[in-house]
Amino acid sequence: MPDFILNTDDNVYNPAEDSYLLADNLEIQEGQSVLEIGTGSGIVAMYASRLTDRITVTDINFDACELARRNFEDNGIDGIEILFGNLFEPVENRKFDVILFNTPYLPTEDDDVIDDTINYAFDGGVNGRKVIDLFLNEVGNHLNDGGIVQLIQSSLSGNQETLSMLDELGFIAEIKASEHFFFEDITLINAYKI
Ligand SMILES: C[S@@+](CC[C@H](N)C(=O)[O-])C[C@H]1O[C@@H](n2cnc3c(N)ncnc32)[C@H](O)[C@@H]1O
Repeated sequence: MPDFILNTDDNVYNPAEDSYLLADNLEIQEGQSVLEIGTGSGIVAMYASRLTDRITVTDINFDACELARRNFEDNGIDGIEILFGNLFEPVENRKFDVILFNTPYLPTEDDDVIDDTINYAFDGGVNGRKVIDLFLNEVGNHLNDGGIVQLIQSSLSGNQETLSMLDELGFIAEIKASEHFFFEDITLINAYKI
């Protein structure tokens, strides 16, 4: 259960085990700048706000931006910058010390696509990597030297692919935590920019 007042919305991802796997393992030092892509309800950013007051969040789902704003307000959390848009578009030319993303990682066939904004919460394309790969290809441009990326995905979307890609992009990456569910492991991957 969250330690925060949590408003929810049918069009926005409800915090679940993956959200808390990230929130419980944040590697943020006081004063560091943090970008959370895909904030949803804002739950991870609210935990991050206990560690730093320099937080920017984005979401491609406008309802999520609105819900996060309400949750920050109802919990008396000021100063989190909320930006609407796709991946790094809203933060062009900006860099951060820590970048967080609980990705939409579920392998999703065309028939399973939901014609509503909640679809953004889980739809990782047929192999689960549609958004993960786009994110990984760009994340280095927005990270300060010595910075860290913390990403959540599923074993169904290929942990090894992510680790190999990060290695090729010049990061040192590891699976930092994982939890087993019926048919998948949810994993937290930490990647350090050297
Ligand atoms: C699994 S949910 C995680 C939500 C929240 N961070 C949490 O942990 O509970 C993924 C979130 O990423 C957002 N998202 C998906 N694709 C995105 C993209 N290309 N750019 C920005 N946000 C995206 C979704 O709208 C959704 O809010």
